[in-house]
Amino acid sequence: MPTQNPEALDDGPTLHIWGGQPLAGHVQISGAKNSVLAIMAAALLCPDHCRLRNVPNLTDIARMNQVLEALGIGVNYQNGVLDLDTHHLTTSKAPYDLVSKLRASFFIIGSLVARLGTARVPLPGGCAIGARPVDLHVRGLQTLGAQVRIEHGIVHADVPGGKLKGGKIYLDYPSVGATETLIMAATLAEGETTIENAAQEPEVSDLANFCRAMGARIRGAGTNTITISGVPRLHAVDYSIIPDRIEAGTFLVAGAITQSEISLSPVIPDHLSPVIAKLRDMGSDVVQDTVNSLRIIPNRRVATDIETLPYPGFPTDMQAQFMALMTLSEGNSVITETVFENRLRHVAELVRMGADIRLKGHNAIIQGVPFLSGAPVMATDLRASAALVLAGLAAQGETVVKGLHHLDRGYDNLEAKLRGLGAKLERVNPTVME
Ligand code: EPZ
Repeated sequence: MPTQNPEALDDGPTLHIWGGQPLAGHVQISGAKNSVLAIMAAALLCPDHCRLRNVPNLTDIARMNQVLEALGIGVNYQNGVLDLDTHHLTTSKAPYDLVSKLRASFFIIGSLVARLGTARVPLPGGCAIGARPVDLHVRGLQTLGAQVRIEHGIVHADVPGGKLKGGKIYLDYPSVGATETLIMAATLAEGETTIENAAQEPEVSDLANFCRAMGARIRGAGTNTITISGVPRLHAVDYSIIPDRIEAGTFLVAGAITQSEISLSPVIPDHLSPVIAKLRDMGSDVVQDTVNSLRIIPNRRVATDIETLPYPGFPTDMQAQFMALMTLSEGNSVITETVFENRLRHVAELVRMGADIRLKGHNAIIQGVPFLSGAPVMATDLRASAALVLAGLAAQGETVVKGLHHLDRGYDNLEAKLRGLGAKLERVNPTVME
């Protein structure tokens, strides 16, 4: 009996896309999801009030708000502004049903241990793209003096004497989440902490800048060695989140795959260097019109090879979107996914649309085809859903995307933004059976 893809039972809304429409115009980029999630966890470090601006309206953010509320935090989100009242942490126990739905909420363990000297956080568990272990987070906290044990799927962390002590941490892998958890934990530790082989993603730098705005002493964020000198207390802050480089990259690919010239802002172009380089490799021009805007001018679409790597290498979060573009690019492209062990599930869905893709382990070999055909397809994870939307924009005929809960985790108002560029698409909610 073939294993039934649980998504196939999804009777949620569907996204209908009528492909072949050229796009034109300008699109507004929202705040970075992966910055906000880490910064919301870091807000717990400070028993005060914190205001975050440029916060996108995403289900991941709503879920993180639920986790914070369960800890006793006051949460108010309106018009992109998130106010957190972190005076009262009523518990150090995060609820399993909420943490299991949002891996990023595990990062609160760093703040809880730093502020309270204790934490009970459920293991986040795996997801569609991989097992997602947290061993690097745990080992780092132990280096800072926490006693950590895992019982019945719950991570118990306790600090004898209540205060973490600075230490020297080496990460076997430049894990984004582990780097973020350990930055948070070290901000209130006694003494100095260094994190070597740290993640260099822009979202790590944004987190460090947020913590410094609260009074933390952090140097080297954005490089592979970060030094944190603990301080006794942090203070209230009003902070604006950086633009989302992955949303921006997704729209650049939308221009390339539909052969349309579109512009986008705000962006921080440096955050998109690997994406811009690859788009140029593949035949598009990408120009910077102002300090915070980019424009894509498509020409031919030619094949290239991509290997996903930690920043500043090519981002794994853009891999699926580029695969969609490669299906229509002349020649033979190879994608090697090195970051996650199961992040090629969109291949089967793109093949349903007529793409010519062969899987060999962590490699996908994509032979460009003259056109894709619209088809019913199933999203399997957040960025796979974006790739299927992009393929639908370029395909002949109608594509129907299911599994939209994945899309809504990471894209704020994607349909309206695409419609604003001239795309023909419509979300259809399931009819309620009487
Ligand atoms: C962050 O996940 C992002 N999520 C991911 O974005 C992104 O794909 C990933 O970084 C890589 O850039 C958030 O920031 C909320 P990792 P994270 O720890 O922190 C292994 C999206 O689409 N690992 O850098 O979980 C892990 O299994 C999401 O927006 C360990 O082995 O990523 C993976 O193979 C998806 N032990 C690799 O490291 C650990 O303790 C990279 O994971 C931690 C990680």
